[in-house]
Amino acid sequence: MTQQAELSMSDPGRLAPAGPGPDTAELVRSLTARGEALLHGSAAGEAVECLRIARMLAGPGDERPARLLNRAIRQVVPRWHFAMMNDHERNAAYEEAIIATVRPGDVVLDIGTGSGLLALLAAKAGASMVITCEAEPVIAAAAQQIVLANGYADTITVINARSTALRVGVDLPTRADVLVTEIFDCALLGEHALPALEHARRELLTPDARLVPRHARLLGQLVESDRLRSHNNVSVACGFDVSTFNQFRSTEYFSTYLHSHDHRMLTAPFELLKVDFGTDLPAGTSEVSALPVSDGMCDAVAMWFELDLAPGVSLSNGPHHRYTHWRQAVQTFDTRLRCEAGLPVALNVSHDQERVHVRPCSPTADW
Ligand SMILES: C[S@@+](CC[C@H](N)C(=O)[O-])C[C@H]1O[C@@H](n2cnc3c(N)ncnc32)[C@H](O)[C@@H]1O
Repeated sequence: MTQQAELSMSDPGRLAPAGPGPDTAELVRSLTARGEALLHGSAAGEAVECLRIARMLAGPGDERPARLLNRAIRQVVPRWHFAMMNDHERNAAYEEAIIATVRPGDVVLDIGTGSGLLALLAAKAGASMVITCEAEPVIAAAAQQIVLANGYADTITVINARSTALRVGVDLPTRADVLVTEIFDCALLGEHALPALEHARRELLTPDARLVPRHARLLGQLVESDRLRSHNNVSVACGFDVSTFNQFRSTEYFSTYLHSHDHRMLTAPFELLKVDFGTDLPAGTSEVSALPVSDGMCDAVAMWFELDLAPGVSLSNGPHHRYTHWRQAVQTFDTRLRCEAGLPVALNVSHDQERVHVRPCSPTADW
């Protein structure tokens, strides 16, 4: 036995595959450093590209590129994508609506590809061509792979772009007969559905294009809840007065499952906003009346949508849909609002292109 072989057998580590040579090791170091700098500089998409190469080239003992890549991917691809794709109620409603809407030979535009799910459903429903766009490059690349793996690459074209950058004659051969889209957050407008649809109607769709969804309503309900109030209000902690922190209270909504917090509904659901996706909806303000069914102190308005996807097919993230991945939107008020059963409460409901905001017309009590 040679001395070399003797050494290898007494030290199994020496039998492990060799790490990268000095040049490769230097390249891995510099790509990892560049990836980390991009990650900290809020350029997670570019960090993913750098770190993917670094991970590929790194030696078996070097886990740093893989760990940083994982962090970058979490920033680029929000975790709700998984819950959304596993939301069977959502998927089934869209599938039913797409089957009811798409006709053989249609050109379909799908805004917001994600995994490519709605584009695949449209192709399966008989569309002759589906153009689908995704703003996020790594998601668009994954959708392309999914389309290919499912055998629809001849029908579906995935474009890595925001829908508002698409052009007929460049990205679409003609205006589309059908639009399908699911770019809705828990309070309907937060993912910029209104500007995307306005642009699509003006530039990308035939005048009589069929839309999935066709309409939507945003509903609200006034709630009393110490737990929900505590998400946005503080007074004493460990005996110290920390209420100065309330300068950072926000009246932006957050998403939560109402059923996971003790709360009391003070009104029946009422309509906050109606959207016809076939026409523009300019920013505006309206007064809405809510009728309390019991006395109480209102801490917040809970909000959710109802999408009219096709005749007889609707989808909602209301509190009775316990497993909706969207959850409900909850917006606290600046001040608590005293409610008395049978006495209508006037609410000011304003919206722009991306948000609905609700406030009492006349607050009656402080926190
Ligand atoms: C809520 S997900 C839906 C994905 C897929 N359509 C589905 O239903 O499973 C929306 C996706 O659309 C993308 N997106 C949102 N607005 C977009 C727009 N105007 N143009 C292109 N992509 C958009 C987001 O990056 C996200 O990946």
